[in-house]
Amino acid sequence: MDKTTAIDVQHKVRQIIAGLKHKPGALMPILHAIKDELGYIPDSTVPTIAEGLQITRAEVHGVISFYHDFRATAPGKHVVHICRAEACQARGCRTLEHHAQQTLGVDYHQTTPDGDITLEAAYCLGNCATGPSVRVGDDIYGRVTPARFDALIDQLQTVPLFIRTASAGVDRGADREEGSAHG
Ligand code: FES
Repeated sequence: MDKTTAIDVQHKVRQIIAGLKHKPGALMPILHAIKDELGYIPDSTVPTIAEGLQITRAEVHGVISFYHDFRATAPGKHVVHICRAEACQARGCRTLEHHAQQTLGVDYHQTTPDGDITLEAAYCLGNCATGPSVRVGDDIYGRVTPARFDALIDQLQTVPLFIRTASAGVDRGADREEGSAHG
């Protein structure tokens, strides 16, 4: 994070704290507001939050690490949630999550080294009848087999490549050839 961005982040966080700190149980609304604004809760903001609420940094850290909803590092370009709740378990989500972790080389709450994909667990995506369910951004997919999961990931990684080469004026045939190497 460069200096200007870091200052902006602190400024935004102070504004959020000032607006919410008088609410009962203000820590959770503040953490949610920061997450909504930045996508995560940077470590650098913990002292600011602690000072604003007159609590210890350890208390703030404790809450951030307890709730899966909060993360201390920036998420990848795409966040992929796999549902682990009961109905999806009955439909094979354990096999799917094992496959996803092996394929991406990451555990839940981690991001692939290229910064492309963050893998997260979800506990019911409201799509129980057609599990195993996966959410990619705002889109929910049902009946996700390991093969379909691979196709979804390929699509996430291939589409930006296609747009980049097409906008650079590269021959479309070459784009297709390059894209198919990922599929
Ligand atoms: S249990 Fe997975 S979508 Fe409801």
